[in-house]
Amino acid sequence: MNARKGREPLAAAETDRIVYDLTGIEHQYDTLLRELPGIDIRFALKSCPVDDVLHCLAARGAGFDAAGPAEIAQALHAGAPAGLVHYGNTIKSDQDIAAAHRLGVRTFATDSVEDVTAIAAHAPRARVFCRLATSGDGALWGLNRKFGCAPEDAVRVLATARAAGLTPAGLSVHVGSQQMTTEGWQQALDTLAETLTALAGRGIVLDHVNLGGGLPALGYQDRHGNPLDPPLDKIFTVLREGMDHLRGLSPAPLAFVMEPGRHLVADHGAVRAHVARLTRRRQPDGTDVHWLYLSCGKFNGLYEMDQLTHRMVFPGHLDAAEHVRAVVAGPSCDSDDAYGEGRHTVRVPASVTSGDPVWILSAGAYATSYMTQGFNGIRPLPCVCVRGQEGQH
Ligand SMILES: Cc1ncc(COP(=O)(O)O)c(C=O)c1O
Repeated sequence: MNARKGREPLAAAETDRIVYDLTGIEHQYDTLLRELPGIDIRFALKSCPVDDVLHCLAARGAGFDAAGPAEIAQALHAGAPAGLVHYGNTIKSDQDIAAAHRLGVRTFATDSVEDVTAIAAHAPRARVFCRLATSGDGALWGLNRKFGCAPEDAVRVLATARAAGLTPAGLSVHVGSQQMTTEGWQQALDTLAETLTALAGRGIVLDHVNLGGGLPALGYQDRHGNPLDPPLDKIFTVLREGMDHLRGLSPAPLAFVMEPGRHLVADHGAVRAHVARLTRRRQPDGTDVHWLYLSCGKFNGLYEMDQLTHRMVFPGHLDAAEHVRAVVAGPSCDSDDAYGEGRHTVRVPASVTSGDPVWILSAGAYATSYMTQGFNGIRPLPCVCVRGQEGQH
């Protein structure tokens, strides 16, 4: 939900909440399918594990990327067939693998010989996707090092899978979340091409590539409150060309899936919070700094405030004559609970007072999943799903 659309439910709210616009999410999904013809979507439900959201995506034909048995169960409950649920987490215990297999899941991500051996033991004959490491360069959250293996390791992992009776089905990548560059994608596509060729040389022919998540939201701002402007159209062009190239060099027909999270939901969720207080204090370095404390912060809806700022609307102060630069922070006792580690200021109306509503836009991704359960006695924000008007988007 961005600045122009879907304000009514925010304006009507008298208490704090997070609001999702299901129509906007559906529209985003449809647009993505049009931009990348032939792609199948496995929505990364970690980014928004809200039943109504999952239900509307499942009804549109989306599958799900699940990070463990609980997410798999939630995806099935939303109406997705088990065949459209991918166990996309490379980190899993024997028990997790067996539970996923009992739930009917047959495709698993992996990145190590140890993990693939466990999949063979607890999910016999499953289809496996080997995740390739990416640099994470260009992304706000790189997701590098912890996941993925080098091309030569991928050959070893998938050869092990084949020898253990599994189907080496695909390769996957994740270019880092909120990837801001085309280069991040191009590097990943080049690594995929190199690895597909090396695998073919070993007689391992895959039928799928999973392009992962990483597609950006459009409504974020940087730490100083300047719009982030990811080159989405160029990213789609690079992806279309890259998919064609990979199809061309694969010895067998190659299908593509993608696991977007943020891109589908971020701009269609907004938080209605309120102002706790605007203060001005002398800092230890002698400077006077305004601090705007909100009812909502890192632990109840704005977890990603380390890397970005969200656009804010103060509905009672739209025509404010005077503004100040303030550090914006949440209500908790933790000093990390502040935008940009409390070092950067953004522009806010000077007239705001305690209790005034504030709408925090493009806050739909990773908000509900990263809410703590009562830190400082702060309850998770209630979640409300609404439908915007058709044609507004
Ligand atoms: C395996 C996997 N797929 C997809 C995603 C979704 O990423 P994004 O929200 O950047 O689209 C994530 C995010 O952590 C992930 O770990």
